[in-house]
Amino acid sequence: MSIYLDHNATTPVDDRVVDAMLPYLKGGYGNPSSGHRFGRESQQAIQCARERVAALIGVQPAQVVFTSGGTEANNLALKGVMALAGENSGLVVSAIEHSSVLQPATALQAAGCPLAVAGVDGDGKVKSDAFEQAVSKKNVALASVMLANNETGVVQDIAQLSEVARTHGVRMHTDAVQALGKLDIDFSALGVAAMSLSAHKIYGPKGVGALVVEKGLRLQPMLHGGVHEAGLRAGTENVAGIVGFGMAAELMQSGLIQRTDHCERLRQRVEQALLKMAHVVVFSRQVTRLSNTLFFAVKGIEGATLLMSLDRDGIAVSSGSACTSGSGKPSHVLLAMGVEEGLAHGAIRVSFGSRNTVEEVDLLISSLQRQIKSLLKLNSGWA
Ligand SMILES: Cc1ncc(COP(=O)(O)O)c(C=O)c1O
Repeated sequence: MSIYLDHNATTPVDDRVVDAMLPYLKGGYGNPSSGHRFGRESQQAIQCARERVAALIGVQPAQVVFTSGGTEANNLALKGVMALAGENSGLVVSAIEHSSVLQPATALQAAGCPLAVAGVDGDGKVKSDAFEQAVSKKNVALASVMLANNETGVVQDIAQLSEVARTHGVRMHTDAVQALGKLDIDFSALGVAAMSLSAHKIYGPKGVGALVVEKGLRLQPMLHGGVHEAGLRAGTENVAGIVGFGMAAELMQSGLIQRTDHCERLRQRVEQALLKMAHVVVFSRQVTRLSNTLFFAVKGIEGATLLMSLDRDGIAVSSGSACTSGSGKPSHVLLAMGVEEGLAHGAIRVSFGSRNTVEEVDLLISSLQRQIKSLLKLNSGWA
């Protein structure tokens, strides 16, 4: 038996995405920069994908800059904007950002850029007063707050935060990697200047994503070379990957309500069962979360231990985010929420996908009930 419940880490590639990509792996090998028919065919395929990605978030195709994924898009947004923002320009990020925002922010700080980190409340929502205080400081050029968190699933009020940022003359970037395909995203309505996306969270291939930019946003490329992607990202395009991203975006255009309702039903089922168990804490239950994400901890049980026990039962979940699990450090998101370190060590994330079934979820519930009971018994025996 094998049950995959880690869709915030990555999703299985949809067969229709694979079918769309195959012609560009097997046959259509032209370099999109070449002037001949082989090149033109690849260029047209990229253009079609650009239109599909743009349509999903309501922008013009020319606003989409394809990258190697969400990590590169986040780096490009932060480093690209700050490079041209002028000396002593400041940057604001929230405390719960993905490492691909926090790390470039720290690197920029080390290079002399003033950095402010806006905290979150106990539910994981960015504190609006802390955010306003940070963006109202002198010379702040950019603020970056994610649309939905990869661990808790908490959705931030980006439109509201952007409005605050703009009144202080600060541009806003949002990491929408986890929100894409799970929320109805309208780039303009959010009032952002830039948005990061990734294909492999929406049943597309790994290693491809995009930074979507407001017209006129001044951005310094990180990679210098040819004039690919309007001069913002040099390097021969990953044609098959981009085509796959385009198809995945096209597939996300319909069925949003069915997908979210389906995940919500599955989550409710597990959450109700968990809440009946002693020692279980479910995070961020009181605020708007992605319907597919359930983040909880069991007092007295290490998340990594429970993860391995579930894995032995054939069930794949995550302890915190995939990038930090195995590091032994508790989730920075939970610590920022004020969760006590011992409890944060027990965190487990279950993230559902469209193909998960009620039967799978019932197997998860019975496995959780059995494993939690035996681990608690074991721990009390040792005490
Ligand atoms: C919120 C968030 N941002 C960025 C990324 C990085 O995206 P990629 O894996 O495409 O580099 C991830 C991936 O886990 C993520 O969850």
